[in-house]
Formats: sequence, structure tokens, C-alpha cells
Amino acid sequence: MNSSVVIFEKDSSVVKIMQAHLKDFDEVIIDKVYSDYNKGFKYVKENKPKIVLFSITSDRVLCSKMIGKLSEFGINVIALSEDYTTSNIIQTLRWGAKDFVSKPIIKKDLIVAITKCCQDDIKVLKKSQIITIFSNKGGIGKTAIAVNLAYELSKQVRDKVALIDLNLPIGDIPTFLDIRPSIDISEIANNIRQNNFLNISDTCCRYKDSDLYVLAEPLHLEEARNISVNQVKTLFDSLRNNFSYIIVDMGSNVNKLNSAILKHSDRILLTTVVNLPQIRNCQRCLDLFKNIDIPDKNVKIVLNRYLENDEITVDDVEKALNKAVYWKIPNNYFTMMSSINKGIPVSEINENSNITDSFSKLASKIADDMFEQDLL
Ligand SMILES: Nc1ncnc2c1ncn2[C@@H]1O[C@H](COP(=O)(O)OP(=O)(O)OP(=O)(O)O)[C@@H](O)[C@H]1O
Ligand SMILES: [Mg+2]
Repeated sequence: MNSSVVIFEKDSSVVKIMQAHLKDFDEVIIDKVYSDYNKGFKYVKENKPKIVLFSITSDRVLCSKMIGKLSEFGINVIALSEDYTTSNIIQTLRWGAKDFVSKPIIKKDLIVAITKCCQDDIKVLKKSQIITIFSNKGGIGKTAIAVNLAYELSKQVRDKVALIDLNLPIGDIPTFLDIRPSIDISEIANNIRQNNFLNISDTCCRYKDSDLYVLAEPLHLEEARNISVNQVKTLFDSLRNNFSYIIVDMGSNVNKLNSAILKHSDRILLTTVVNLPQIRNCQRCLDLFKNIDIPDKNVKIVLNRYLENDEITVDDVEKALNKAVYWKIPNNYFTMMSSINKGIPVSEINENSNITDSFSKLASKIADDMFEQDLL
């Protein structure tokens, strides 16, 4: 069946281009074209077409309101704009657009975006996923990866993402994101058990206006606290009821608590840097995972601070570990240090840096993998 499309565009030459692009595309039929957005909005509200091709104007307040409302009506909005910087694309998606096509409009881009809308393929997981970043040595980059992966995921999956600091008693996430949590995680776990907390997402700290929700200990506790193995299980159960993706940062010791965190995770990103002692540590970790019955398919190798021309190659690492490398995060001291010093994710420091690109693509790969796994 043809899906109906309504176009919001003030420039008649752009309308003509879109009409030409879609002329032979049988999946859709252009129902109406509006240069007056208010009239268009009224029509769309009553007739609920499948797709609106919405050209962003300089009146961004109007655009954000209209796109938000249209997506609430269940209409797939494809935003069109000359400004295809990452920040503009993200902003538009946050307003509620389902996809973004840059101007001048290329036929292929338009058809891909429309095809995606027609497939109704919003990636919502049926079962929530706990993704834990682990390394049995400190200082490898667990927190840096957890924070940036969680932030990028929250921009991509249109769902709330939780970032949990279980490097207790005092983790680094509040410093990395410059936030001041006021809740004690062990208290939360206790209260969940007594059913005092109906919704754990209310107790998490929302990061700015993003879809990232952080659960971390306050920086200055009167006494160092810890959390029991049972409390971890309770906490995870409650988080699973409220979030699709839960990213966990944790300590490097392999004690009872950390083994429980690993066992309850759906995916472990076993992180290492490329040098011999660390690769040996990684081998030990893989042995340990086997001993505590963690399925090998749940463990993925991530190389951090990767340098293209390193003496030890990815091939060497894979041979030594007898396992494929899942992802490589480049070494970018400057951007990373600046991010930590300013307390903001790397993409907010430099959206065009190699490390931002790597975290963004890692988030997208994980989202795709999790979605496929969810279908099985
Ligand atoms: N890809 C990278 N490029 C450059 N520097 C990095 C990268 N990843 C991490 N770092 C640096 O490594 C240091 C340690 O990172 P991080 O605190 O994330 O490690 P960690 O594994 O969480 O340590 P801990 O075990 O102490 O919690 C930080 O100073 C950070 O700047
Ligand atoms: Mg850390």
C-alpha cells in the first residue's frame, strides 16, 4: 500500500526536486504540499499521513513545537535542512523527528529515509540490556568509555539510558560529568527491597536535558559504604524495569561483588590497552569468566588508546586472546583530558574528533547488536 506524504516547504524549487525524486518511487504518494506551516499542521492533524517531509525554517521555536506535536500524533517526521552539523541533527531528532535529510536533497538519501519510516522499524528493545565495562587493571579507561558510550547511546536510541557507577565506594562518574548526586546507592537498593521506591528513574540524576540518567554515589560520603551481592541483583532488577540500556562502570578487583555484577550483565566490554602485560591480564580475565560461567558470546574485547601503527597489531591481540577484537577506541589525549577537566562528554568538546566518532559508532554498533539479539 502507498504511504501518504505531506511536504512542508517554503521554497517551490525544493518542492519540485522532491517531487522529481519521488516520481517513480511507488511506496509513497505525495498527498499535499504546504508553504504555510500552520495550514499544513491543521491538515496533518486531521488526516494523519504516514510521513511529513518537514523543512526546518529559521523559526526554530515553531519548528520544534510542530515536530514535537507531529511525532506525538504518531506521524513520521523527516527533517530537511541545509545545516547538517551533528548538533543540528541531534537537536532535530530530540524534537521528535524520526530522520534527517540534508539539503540539497539527494534522491538516495530521501528514499532511504522514507523507506525506514515505512518499515516501522523503531528499535525498541523487549528486554533491557545491562552493558558493563570491565578491566582487571585500573586506569585503562573504563569510566571514560562508560560515560561516553552511555551519552552517545542516549542520543541514538530514543529511549532512556541509565549510567550506573558501581566503582564503589567512590567512583569517578560525577567528576567526568560534573554532577553532584545526592543519593546513596546502598540506601536505594535497601529501599527498593522494601518497595519504598516505585520508580528508580526518579532517583537518578538526569544529565542536562538528555535522555541519560545517572546513578552514582555522592563525592563525599561520611563513611565509605558498599553494596551487597543481593543489593546488586535488586538494583539491576529495578533498573531493568525502567531503562532499555543500562551502562555500568565498575572497579577492577575480582571480588564477590564485582563477580556478581559481571554475572548479571548481558554484555561485558572487556577493555584493554595494547601492551603485553595488559594482554596477559585480558587472557586471565577470559579464563576467570569461563570459571564463573559467563558465556563467551557475552564478552567483547575493546582496545582503548589504540594507535594505528603500534608494534603489536590487532591480529597479534586476536591470536593471543583467541578472540576477535570488537572495537578500537583511538588514543586522543588532548580531547579526553579536556573532556575530563571540563566535566563534559568528548562529543561536547569536539564533535568532529576521531574519538567522538569512535564512541558514536560504538554506540550504534551496540544498539544494532542488542536489537538483533533481542529478536532471537
Ligand atoms: N582513548 C583515550 N585516549 C586518551 N586518553 C584516554 C583514553 N581513554 C582514557 N584515557 C585517559 O586514561 C585515564 C584513565 O581513564 P579512566 O579514569 O576512564 O580509567 P578507569 O579504568 O576508569 O580507571 P579506574 O580503574 O581508576 O577507575 C584518564 O586520565 C583518561 O584521560
Ligand atoms: Mg574509573
